[in-house]
Amino acid sequence: MATLLHLDSSPMGAASVSRHLSETFAQSWKKAHPDGVVRTRDLTASGLVSITAEWVAASYTPADARTAEQRAVLAKSEELLEELEAAEELVVGVAMHNFHTPSVLKLWIDQVVRVERAFALVDGVPKGLLTGKKATFLVATGGTYGPGTAAEPLNFIEPYLKTLFGFLGFERVVFYTAGGASALNFGANREEFLRPHDQAVAALAASEGQ
Ligand SMILES: Cc1cc2nc3c(=O)[nH]c(=O)nc-3n(C[C@H](O)[C@H](O)[C@H](O)COP(=O)(O)O)c2cc1C
Repeated sequence: MATLLHLDSSPMGAASVSRHLSETFAQSWKKAHPDGVVRTRDLTASGLVSITAEWVAASYTPADARTAEQRAVLAKSEELLEELEAAEELVVGVAMHNFHTPSVLKLWIDQVVRVERAFALVDGVPKGLLTGKKATFLVATGGTYGPGTAAEPLNFIEPYLKTLFGFLGFERVVFYTAGGASALNFGANREEFLRPHDQAVAALAASEGQ
């Protein structure tokens, strides 16, 4: 059964553009995959914490040699990894914060990128273990960072996530960006702003069913 893991990282609740777009994607994906399952996780409400020295030591200890304490230290990571492994597709609503992702998304990444689970070292060379999957990142930015613009190199979200998910073995990594969202703080009409993005994102999700 097809499974979509839907993550959100914006703290802005109902006012968030990226959350709106990821919800549009999930609804359109569900229509295209009537038997599919959508699992939703709000990273701002998932109690994510920074990894620690104990976490790193536990992650490098072979699974069958871990102590009960080490298993407890990795429990959240295990839960998040199993959720990701079970999904063929991932959609993530990403708010641009300081030219990068919100910190909760980085906390999630640090919890799931584990040796022997997300990647392995084969003869010293890293090999992604999360193969055959597709990720779609729906990004909202206050400014615009389109191809060829002077601001393009300031968008660290896309090169970072493209590199990371490629490293992990993902087959396809897709980006859609709703730029210029700061206009909403200066009187732009929200519905009018969202309409073309909704249409593009719905089409993106629906096309996956074919
Ligand atoms: C803490 C913070 C940092 C931001 N940093 C940037 C930035 O570096 N570049 C930018 O274009 N917009 C920036 N913005 C604007 C957001 O990217 C914009 O509001 C976008 O809609 C956020 O996504 P969301 O609506 O899903 O929360 C920032 C907003 C906040 C709250």
